[in-house]
Amino acid sequence: MDKASSTDIIVISLGGSIVVPNEVDTGFVRRFVSVVLARIATPGSPRIALVIGGGATARSYQAAARRIAPEVESAVLDEVGIAATRVNAAIVQAAFGNACRDPLVTDPTAVTGITGSVLVAGGWKPGFSTDNVAVHLAESLGANRLLNLSNINRIYTADPSEDPMAKPIDRMSWEDLLTITGTEWVPGKNTPFDPVAARRASQLDMTVITVDGRDLANFEALLDGKPFVGTTVSG
Ligand code: UTP
Repeated sequence: MDKASSTDIIVISLGGSIVVPNEVDTGFVRRFVSVVLARIATPGSPRIALVIGGGATARSYQAAARRIAPEVESAVLDEVGIAATRVNAAIVQAAFGNACRDPLVTDPTAVTGITGSVLVAGGWKPGFSTDNVAVHLAESLGANRLLNLSNINRIYTADPSEDPMAKPIDRMSWEDLLTITGTEWVPGKNTPFDPVAARRASQLDMTVITVDGRDLANFEALLDGKPFVGTTVSG
């Protein structure tokens, strides 16, 4: 089967908090899938590699595991989170129907190409989040740009919910981002991009563009090369 070449693949990390803010947001998943399907409908369209996060599913199951086994190790909680990412990924994959022909990706380093138009991945192994899975997937597919869809419209100088002086940033370097996120994986810590993923993306000289995935008009503008609101991290 024909596999896509590296130049026409778009890698997207879709934050679990937008797929499952509390319950699965079926309306959002339908609209998101339509936006993507519209971009891959014609010959010569890019192929899309998607990594899906755990969202409320991960948080709720990890909290339950902590209540049942208070001494549980963080790697075990990570495994619970990974299972959540995979169940979320499975429903997104189902929504793509025949456009997605490969099995759900559980190891991004084993991927060599995309058979259909869309490839869907969940979590991989303990010690990081799906942001890092997306960086590895981009590396495997030879893509040097990654779109990070989360529930913030830009990366800020500080957490805006804690610091009223926090300012949004349009463009920043990896060094600046690593100053905000730190360089180590801290389970449960809320950072705009996973520090393990940020370190690797920086070493690979990747560009990561963070936008609010809930704003599908803005996401479409980004896909279509039009002006968009978001933060571009590079260099
Ligand atoms: P997410 O990627 O959704 O992480 O994976 P997150 O940073 O908590 O969520 P967002 O990006 O803010 O929505 C959920 C959890 O699953 C485990 C981690 O514990 C992570 O916090 N996980 C996921 C792994 O350990 N390895 C993976 O490859 C993926």
